Amino acid sequence: MVSYKELGLVNTRAMFAAAVKGGYAIPAFNFNTMEQMQAIVQAAVETKSPVIMQVSKGARNYANATILRYMAQGAVEYAKELGCAHPEIVLHLDHGDSFELCKDCIDMGFSSVMIDGSALPYEENIALTKKVVEYAHKYDVTVEAELGVLAGVEDEVASEVSHYTKPEEVIDFATRTGCDSLAISIGTSHGAYKFKPEQCTRDPKTGKLVPPPLAFDVLHEIEKKLPGFPIVLHGSSSVPQEEVDTINAYGGKLPDAVGIPEEQLREASKSAVCKINIDSDSRLAMTAAVRKYLAENPSHFDPRQYLKPARDNMKKMYIHKIVDVLGSDNKLLQK
Ligand code: G3H
Ligand code: 13P
Ligand code: ZN
Repeated sequence: MVSYKELGLVNTRAMFAAAVKGGYAIPAFNFNTMEQMQAIVQAAVETKSPVIMQVSKGARNYANATILRYMAQGAVEYAKELGCAHPEIVLHLDHGDSFELCKDCIDMGFSSVMIDGSALPYEENIALTKKVVEYAHKYDVTVEAELGVLAGVEDEVASEVSHYTKPEEVIDFATRTGCDSLAISIGTSHGAYKFKPEQCTRDPKTGKLVPPPLAFDVLHEIEKKLPGFPIVLHGSSSVPQEEVDTINAYGGKLPDAVGIPEEQLREASKSAVCKINIDSDSRLAMTAAVRKYLAENPSHFDPRQYLKPARDNMKKMYIHKIVDVLGSDNKLLQK
C-alpha cells in the first residue's frame, strides 16, 4: 500500500472547494505517454495552475499501471525541478468500472478515483459508489461518481442516447453515496464526433457545423439542489478546427468532427462545474503536429524529431485551456 501523500500528490478536496467558490474549473487532462505528461506539467507550472492527470482503464492497458503511477510521481518531481515549490497534482482514475479497479489504484498511490456506475440501475450505482467511497475515504482519497449517461463510448460503459442527469435525483445520490464530486450529463459526449451533422446547424459564413447548446438549465437546477457541491463535465474537448484542418490537410480523414464550443465551457467553469475533462483535444494536437512534421520531413525517422513538435503543440493547447477557457491559472493554494 502506497499513500499518494508520500508521492507528493494531493486529492481534489481543497482545489474543488476553491474552484467552486472562485468561479473557475480545474483541468483534468488524460495521459498515456511521457510526452503528454511532460506537456501537462510544463503547462501547469508555467501557468501556476493546479492540475488533474487522469488515467483511463485503456491507458493502464496501453502503458502499464505501474509505469503510469511512477510517471505521476515523476511529474511531481519534474514540476519542482521546473520551479514550482508546491505543485498541486492529482493522480485520478478516469471511468473506473469496478470496486476492484478503484481499490487497486488507491492502493498504488492514486489520490482520486472515479467510479462510473452511470450505466447501472440507480440503486446499483448507489451501492457500488458507496462501497468505493467507504474504502477511498479511509485513505483520504476523493471519489467522483456519475449520474446520467453521456452518449457515445465511455471506455466499456456505452449508451446510444444521451440521458441528462435528473436534478431530482442528485440530493439523494450525493447524500447516500458520500461522493466528493458528481459527473453530470448535460449534452457533452466523448471523442471528436460529439454530435451528428443532423443535430447541428451550419454557419452560413464558414459552412462549419454549429452544435446544439449544452443544457445549462439542467446544470442550474442541479446547482440549486446541491449548492456548492463540485460538479464535473466529461466529454469537454472543443475539437479545434485548426487541428482538424491540419490533420485533414496532411493525409488524415476526420470529416465533420465537432466538439463543445469554448464559450460554453467558459460559462460552465464559472458555475459549480469545477473539473473539466479533456482528452480528445490532446490527441488531435499530437496527431496534427506529427502528421505535419512527417509530411514536411519525409526523410526523418527519429521519433524525437516528430514528438517534440507534438509535445509543444499539446503544451500550447493545455496553456490555452487553462488561461483562456477554465481560468485556473494562478490558482495554486500554496504559493
Ligand atoms: O473518457 C474517455 C477518455 O477519453 C479515455 O479514453 O479509454 O480511450 O483511454 P480511452
Ligand atoms: P473528450 O473526449 O471530450 O476529450 O472527453 C474526455 C473525457 O471525458 C475523459 O473522461
Ligand atoms: Zn469521461
